[in-house]
Amino acid sequence: MPQRHEVTKKNLEPLCLRGKKKNMIYQNTLEFAKSLDEKDPLKHFREMFYIPLMFGKECIYFTGNSLGLQAKQTQDYVVDELEDWASLGVEGHLHARNPWLPYHEIFPQQLSKIVGCLPHEVVVMNSLTVNLHLLLVSFYRPSQQRYKIICEAKAFPSDQYAFETQAKYHGFDPADAVIEVSPREGEYILRTEDIISTIKKHGESVATVLFGGVNYYTGQLFNMKAITDAAHAIGAYAGFDLAHATGNVELHLHDWNVDFACWCSYKYLNSGPGAVGGAYIHEKHAANKDLPRFAGWWGYTKETRFKMEKGFEAIPTAEGWQLSNAPVLAMAAHKASLDVFEEAGMERLHDKRKMLCDYLLFIIDYCNSQLDEKIIQVITPQNENERGCQVSMLMLKRGKEIYNELTKQGVLADWREPNVIRVAPVPLYNSFEDVWRFGHIIETILK
Ligand SMILES: Cc1ncc(COP(=O)(O)O)c(C=O)c1O
Repeated sequence: MPQRHEVTKKNLEPLCLRGKKKNMIYQNTLEFAKSLDEKDPLKHFREMFYIPLMFGKECIYFTGNSLGLQAKQTQDYVVDELEDWASLGVEGHLHARNPWLPYHEIFPQQLSKIVGCLPHEVVVMNSLTVNLHLLLVSFYRPSQQRYKIICEAKAFPSDQYAFETQAKYHGFDPADAVIEVSPREGEYILRTEDIISTIKKHGESVATVLFGGVNYYTGQLFNMKAITDAAHAIGAYAGFDLAHATGNVELHLHDWNVDFACWCSYKYLNSGPGAVGGAYIHEKHAANKDLPRFAGWWGYTKETRFKMEKGFEAIPTAEGWQLSNAPVLAMAAHKASLDVFEEAGMERLHDKRKMLCDYLLFIIDYCNSQLDEKIIQVITPQNENERGCQVSMLMLKRGKEIYNELTKQGVLADWREPNVIRVAPVPLYNSFEDVWRFGHIIETILK
């Protein structure tokens, strides 16, 4: 068992560096971090979550970009459904407190505020990679002339496999059909101008442009509007995998004219391991009942669904992509989480996220400034409009050793081969004190 890290009074002494970010003068002291927490209008939300214990005390949980924490009310929401199932059996479809038959209909109002769309453009169903494939069935319709998919290099592996197998499924060679945009030599971040010029270069041979909203490795937030405009200019569809964006960054999918998007709900949306995913389809497509798709009975026109007749009749909204009836237990956990988001409000969450992340970048700068040679290179963009919660630290030396030591000292961060530590302070439950303590631990490890 690793030794428990004792935070003693001595090692909490002020570190006395002052820095300036925007109009805020940051200080690397515990008192300063606590004063920011004191002024934080969302501070009481931390109490609404279970913070995992490590070595007998609350850890510094910086992996909400991987699996978000459990809201304490989640159990009640799930138990309500278990109780209704126990007492009502099949009657629960119509008579549960939240009837199961239309259970998924409770999500669009809340989710549409999180992803910036109209309620009928969003649906909760399946899981992320499943939804990605289902949407590609509709929005990757290659022909001999127009068959390419443009994506970011090193997209999340599941996305890469989806692009590869979709191309093959339609009879194309992925080496020719999947075009990856890479950062320039010596750079980590993709330049929007390079994405746009690649889209233009491949022009009419492109069927679909599909990027992550936020790249899982670097934490870069892509300019989704610019990418969408560029895709449309050459007659291609534009879609996004929002696994690292939903519940994290500002999204205006409808206004940006994005054609389709999907996401998981177990990261920033705190809906539990393997939680039910979500999908967005712009109303101009969602209303098109003739758009090709793989269908199931839950996407069938509600009025006549139970006539069980031949011939698929799509619901003319995002619901028309549903296959199966609602997985209510998983959805109850999702509902518990979305109610917390509703109470916090996206605007307040974005304000706090930006400040938490700024403070973290300041603290990392401080740690580097104490060393003869730089050990941490932040590869996440410094510009607050090009990132979300996550900061990716490229470790120039001793990476794995530092990561292991962080774990021993009660920090749950995330290691990505070959040498990146990802940390994500999440505005719903992380504090400025968490950020300061993280910096303090890093500093003692680096000494
Ligand atoms: C960007 C991205 N895409 C796809 C996936 C795969 O998600 P799932 O296993 O829910 O299909 C993940 C999982 O973390 C992800 O981060």
